[in-house]
Amino acid sequence: MKDFLARFGPWAVVTGASSGIGEAFARQLAAKGIHLVLVARREDRLKALGEELHERHGVETRIVPVDLAREDFLPVVERATHDLEIGLLVNNAGVLSAGQFLDHDLRGELNQLHLNTRAVLILTHHFGRKMRERKRGGVIFLASTVAFAGVPGMSAYAASKAHALSFAEGFAREVSGDGIAVLALCPGPTSTEIWPEGATPTLPMRPEAVAGLALRKLGKRKTVVAGLLNRLITLSTRFAPRWMNSLIFGKVVGGMLNTATMGSGETTPATATASRTTTPTG
Ligand SMILES: NC(=O)c1ccc[n+]([C@@H]2O[C@H](COP(=O)([O-])OP(=O)(O)OC[C@H]3O[C@@H](n4cnc5c(N)ncnc54)[C@H](OP(=O)(O)O)[C@@H]3O)[C@@H](O)[C@H]2O)c1
Repeated sequence: MKDFLARFGPWAVVTGASSGIGEAFARQLAAKGIHLVLVARREDRLKALGEELHERHGVETRIVPVDLAREDFLPVVERATHDLEIGLLVNNAGVLSAGQFLDHDLRGELNQLHLNTRAVLILTHHFGRKMRERKRGGVIFLASTVAFAGVPGMSAYAASKAHALSFAEGFAREVSGDGIAVLALCPGPTSTEIWPEGATPTLPMRPEAVAGLALRKLGKRKTVVAGLLNRLITLSTRFAPRWMNSLIFGKVVGGMLNTATMGSGETTPATATASRTTTPTG
């Protein structure tokens, strides 16, 4: 635990800390004595979590209620963190736009693109440079098992996760001589709010297990797929032609998403998080 603190402390930024895997990261990092910058849109949830973790583990917490899909989000994060030594960035915030791409409103798709890829790029550049100066730190990228194939039913989402996986793996090699550990975390179905209503993720993992695995593997591995079944599935993509991977992933994902989502005629993407009421400050 001391080693982790020395290598990735004293502060961590966790995006998407208001629920799911991000909240699990925040809880487990606080238990390791890491101070936390909690980023997401829902201020009430961040506040409650920050206060609870401070009371329970004695760590300091700062909350940053901001919409990371907005073009101008970085100054808000910068203002909240300029005086802190950030040893770990967890690029976790994400949304899932499920259903037929052409049936969706373009705004929802762009929201997903900006959050899942653009924000990750900007935050990694910002905090990565400071880590390189200090010659230590860590960055975790939330990819997914769907990063391993083109996936009908979540095509643009899977592409955004392929971006995270490829970016993380390349970036990991670029900074390995600078003392920065990079991990691409690839969960399969996990029980969180990201799934649209009516979806039934198959054999979902718990967010705590997914976050715990990442924290154990950070600094030891560059890519980790969560869960044995998911490891077998992603391994199998290496031996099949790409069209077959798309076909199989499409069938699996189609079974998990409800028929309304997969049908045609919707104009709003079935995104659980994109539609939440927010009060962005930046
Ligand atoms: N659950 C799965 O099956 C699964 C599988 C593979 C990968 N993942 C990845 O895991 C990551 C975490 O997702 P999750 O499953 O834990 O889902 P989740 O419970 O819905 O959490 C998503 C988080 O992202 C935040 N967020 C959404 N839009 C935002 C925005 N515009 N600006 C700032 N924060 C925003 C949400 O907070 P606010 O709504 O408060 O902003 C929330 O804290 C995502 O990158 C996802 O792609 C999930």
